Amino acid sequence: MSDNLSLFELNNEKIENTRILELRKKIIEADTAYYVDAQPLMTDREYDLLMQELIDIEKNNPELITPDSPTQRVGGAPLKEFRQVQHDRPMLSLANTYSREEVEEFDKRIREALGDTQYKYTQELKYDGVAVSLHYENSVLKLALTRGDGITGDDITQNVKTIQSLPIKANDLDINGIPLRNFEVRGEVFMMESDFLRINEQRAEAGEKLFANPRNTTAGTLKLLDSKEVAKRPLSIVIYYIDTQDVKLSNHSDNLEIIKKLGLPISEQTRQAASIDEIFNFINKWEENRHTLPFQIDGIVIKLDSITHQNILGFVARSPRWAIAYKYQAEKAVTQLNGITFQVGRTGVVTPVAELEPIFLAGSTISRATLHNEDYIKERDIRINDFVVIEKGGEVIPKVSAVVLEKRPDDAVLFSFPELCPCGIKHPLVKPEGEANYFCEHPECPWQIRRRIEHFASRNAMYIDGLGEKVVDQLVNLEYIKSVADLYDLHNHRDKLLALERWGEKSVDNLLAAIEQSKKQTLSRFIFAIGIRFIGEGAAKILARTFKNIEALSKATIDDLKSVHEIGEKMAETIVYFFSVPKELEIINRLISYHLNTELTEEETGRDGVLTGQTFVLTGELSSMTRNEAKQKIESFGGKVTGSVSKMTNYVIAGSDAGSKLKKAQQLEVKVLNEEEFIELIEKL
Ligand code: IVH
Repeated sequence: MSDNLSLFELNNEKIENTRILELRKKIIEADTAYYVDAQPLMTDREYDLLMQELIDIEKNNPELITPDSPTQRVGGAPLKEFRQVQHDRPMLSLANTYSREEVEEFDKRIREALGDTQYKYTQELKYDGVAVSLHYENSVLKLALTRGDGITGDDITQNVKTIQSLPIKANDLDINGIPLRNFEVRGEVFMMESDFLRINEQRAEAGEKLFANPRNTTAGTLKLLDSKEVAKRPLSIVIYYIDTQDVKLSNHSDNLEIIKKLGLPISEQTRQAASIDEIFNFINKWEENRHTLPFQIDGIVIKLDSITHQNILGFVARSPRWAIAYKYQAEKAVTQLNGITFQVGRTGVVTPVAELEPIFLAGSTISRATLHNEDYIKERDIRINDFVVIEKGGEVIPKVSAVVLEKRPDDAVLFSFPELCPCGIKHPLVKPEGEANYFCEHPECPWQIRRRIEHFASRNAMYIDGLGEKVVDQLVNLEYIKSVADLYDLHNHRDKLLALERWGEKSVDNLLAAIEQSKKQTLSRFIFAIGIRFIGEGAAKILARTFKNIEALSKATIDDLKSVHEIGEKMAETIVYFFSVPKELEIINRLISYHLNTELTEEETGRDGVLTGQTFVLTGELSSMTRNEAKQKIESFGGKVTGSVSKMTNYVIAGSDAGSKLKKAQQLEVKVLNEEEFIELIEKL
C-alpha cells in the first residue's frame, strides 16, 4: 500500500477487505453445509449473489485475492500441458486378490511378522476412481498430483480445486495441543453414477463418443487442460490416507477421524475387523449391496490398523505388505446376439440396439443392450449371431463389451449400418463430419415425431398423464397428431378417439382433460418440453428465469445466451438454431395460440426452493422413474439427495427391495416414504 493513499481510499480498502473475509466465510460455510453435511444453508440464488459480490470485489482489488478464496476453484487460463512433480513418497498400489484363501494367507503373513502382538484391521470400500495426492500447506490446498508412474505425477491442482466437496482451506485442528497445518492426504476422485449417466446422455445427444464407465469419465475429466471444462463435470472425492511431520500418527482408524476433523470427506462405510470371518462379513455385505451405493466400487480394501504394525510389515515391490484389495468379479455374462435393431431419438440420432438371447445378470434379465454407434460395432468386430460379453456395472445401462471369438458360429453375419432411416419415409441417413452417429434429418420422420411427443408429454416435461408410448404410437400411426401442437386440437376429434379400439368415454375424457390441464405448466417445463437439443431440465429452468417468456428466448442472440451463467456455446448455438427453423416456430406459435402458458409466473419462481434445506436418500428400485430422475426432481425444487442415511436426513424414499438404508432410517426414526407417497409429495409442489 502506498504512503500517500488518502484516508478515504484506506478506509474503502479496509471495508472491502472485511467484506471479502465475511463473504468467503459465508460461502465456505455454505459449501460445507451443502456438499459435506448435506444440509444447505441457503437457496442457490442467495449463494450465487454472495459469490457474484465476491467476484466483483476481487476483480476490482486483485491484490486481495488469496489462493484459498472460493473464487479460485475455477481459475486461470487453460494449460498447455501438466507440470510434472515428484511425489514425496512413492504412490503405491495394492496387491489384488479374488479369493478367501489369499486373504487368509495375507493374514497369516501378518500374524507371523507380528508374533504374539494383538492386531486389527480397518476395512474400506475400494472406490473405482483415480488416485490423487493432495498437499496442504498452512491448511491451504497447494498442490494436487495424479499417481503418474508412482514416482512422478501430473500437477492437476486447478482441476482438483473444482471438486466442490473438497475444502481448499482445511479446518484448523490441534492434536494434543499441537497444530496440524501441513500435511499430505491421498484419496480417490470418482464420479457419482447419476452424474456419469447425465454426462453420457448429453454426449449421446451431441453425437459424441460415450464414456465407458464413471472411472474412465473421471480419468478423462482430470486430464482436461481447461479447469473451466472440468468444473462442468461434477467430481467427488474420498480421502483414505494422511501423512504429516507436524504430529504423531498412530493408527489408520484415528487418522480417518483426523481427516474428517480437518473437514475433508472420508468414506462413511468403514469397519474394523479382527478375524477372517469378520473380514468376509463385510466383503459379502458389500458384494450384495454394492448396487445400493450411488457410486461404483470394485472391491474392499483391508488395512492393518496400527501404523507401528504397518511399519514392521513394510513393502514388497510396489505394494505395502500391510494392506490388500479384495476385488469383486466384474458382472459379466455371455449370450448370443440375435439381431441388431435401431432406435431413432427425438433429435434424429439413430442408435443400434443389440437384441440378445435373454440372460440374467446382476439382478435383472437382459434382452437388449446398447451398441452405441457404428464405430463401436466395428472396433469390436461384433457380428450378428456372435456370442457376446454383456457387462452391467451398478445402475449403468447394460452394454455389449466384446465378442467371444472362439465361439463365433459359421453363420455369423457382418453388420453394415443402414443407409436409410428405419422409419416409413426411409429418408437417407447422414453422418455429420466429426460425429460418431448417423442422423435422420427428415422433419416428418414419424419415429422422431413419436419420441418428441413422448418427451413433451413426459412426467418431467408437460406431464400429460395417459399419453405414454403406446398411445402416442397409436395416434401418430393414425396421423391424428403430427406434432405436439396437434395435441391441443384433439378435443375437436373426440368422436374419432371414441371410435378407437380399447378407448371408452372415460379414458378419452381423462386424456383430453390432462392435455387441457398441461396448458398451465410452468415456463421452464415448456422450454424443456419443446425439445431443444442439449437443453435439459436444469438449463430450461435457468433460461426461464433469465428470459421470462418464450418470445424473449426465441429472440435471444448467441451472445445474449452465452452471457448467462451455465449456458455454454453449444447450448447457445442450438437454441438459436431451434428458433430459426420455420417448422419449430410454427409449432411454438400454434402452442401460444392454444393459450399454453409461456410466461414465468411468480408461482414458478417461488416454487423453486420449496425443498431447500431438505435432504433425501433414495433406496431400492422405483417403478415409475429411475433414481436419477427422482434425484433431478428433488434437486429441481432445491432439495438435496445424499447416499447415506443419518439423523440429518429428512426423508428416505424406499422403492422395492430397499435394504440396509431403510433399516437405518427406521432405527433413526427418519421419515420413510414409499414410491406413491413420494410422487404425491412431488406433485403437490
Ligand atoms: S489405499 C498404499 N484405500 O485402489 C495403499 N486405495 O489398487 C494406498 N483405492 O491406488 C491405497 N479405494 O487408487 C486405498 N479405500 C481405499 C481405496 C483405494 C480405492 C484405489 C487407489 C489405489 C488402488 C490400489
